Amino acid sequence: MQLENLKAEVLAAIAGADTLSDLDAVRVGVLGKNGSLTALMKGLSALTLEEKKRVGGELNLVKQALTEALDAKKQALEDKELAAKLNQEKIDITLPVRPKTHGRIHPVAHVMEEMMAIYAAMGFDVAEGPDIEDDWHNFEALNIPPSHPARQMQDTFYIKETPYMLRTQTSGVQIRVMEAQKPPVKIVAPGRCYRVDSDATHSPAFNQVEGLYVDKGVTLAHLKSVLEESLKLFFETDDLVVRFRTSYFPFTEPSYEFDVGGKLARDIGKEWIELGGCGMVDPKVLENCGIDPNVYQGFAFGYGLDRCAMLKYAIPDIRSFFEGDVRWIRHYGFMPEDVPNSVTGLSLNGGTKR
Ligand code: FA5
Repeated sequence: MQLENLKAEVLAAIAGADTLSDLDAVRVGVLGKNGSLTALMKGLSALTLEEKKRVGGELNLVKQALTEALDAKKQALEDKELAAKLNQEKIDITLPVRPKTHGRIHPVAHVMEEMMAIYAAMGFDVAEGPDIEDDWHNFEALNIPPSHPARQMQDTFYIKETPYMLRTQTSGVQIRVMEAQKPPVKIVAPGRCYRVDSDATHSPAFNQVEGLYVDKGVTLAHLKSVLEESLKLFFETDDLVVRFRTSYFPFTEPSYEFDVGGKLARDIGKEWIELGGCGMVDPKVLENCGIDPNVYQGFAFGYGLDRCAMLKYAIPDIRSFFEGDVRWIRHYGFMPEDVPNSVTGLSLNGGTKR
């Protein structure tokens, strides 16, 4: 009887609760630590086993009924609150949108990503080296000893009173990778380089991408096809040819400078556009890295990424890349979601990022 009364009272209180906090007060009053039903539950210990079973069962039924009623009311009150809130909030769709202020991806960063996706799809890993380089990696291991005239080919920024310099080329990454890893080695290494150099097509800080493939039986034919295929994908034209001109680099033999011809060149009124240097890795360089040149051969190439960006996106002056002019970056920069065709058109099969 007492239990039935309690149940009826609590159900009435639940029905009468108008707010979530009122409802919570009812819940605490009956089911809380000192709640009325909790007190009855505690009283069970004084009963005989027989009574415990009977009264305990009844108490549990009441508890279950009250808990269900509390939950249902809670849901109803929450729905009511939400409906009231939605009713109050009004969206003025005639208001102008807030101005968007988002940054742009620099064309060189974009071009670097495009290139890396292309070489990754061809099975090259991406390697990196430091901007501040030591004499061994930037020069000596590349077959350029201190007295070598090739040191004058590149005007170097030395770091005063230290054996370090700003790297003049990404070729030092070839050495770092071959020192750490035995063939087969198949990497590309993009990054900044520095030389005392400045005009509309030369900057004191610029970007190169290096390629290196060392394995058994690597030939010039591999070099030519990798360059031609990757540049066709990058410039998004099949009408592109690569021309090799004999040249000299101390770390390759034979050495070539390479130019691209075809649509890209014709579009800017030229027959050929010079892009970079390449050749077969000099046996001395392989030896310097502990690789037996009688077993392994390799090709290497290096070319200017800024120049590629200028050509692909019609940017006239390399110096503008580094001026930090916000109007320039708004015009030439890329939105983060801009995914280039050359990347989406590829099936990435095997390249991994280091
Ligand atoms: C080299 O730097 C060699 N390390 C390339 C190489 C790698 C040859 C592997 C053989 C094997 P070179 O000094 O020619 O070569 O520079 C290569 C390219 O970098 C140039 O064709 C040009 O595209 C770019 N480059 C060089 N100096 C600058 C500069 N100051 N500003 C912008 N781009 C530059």
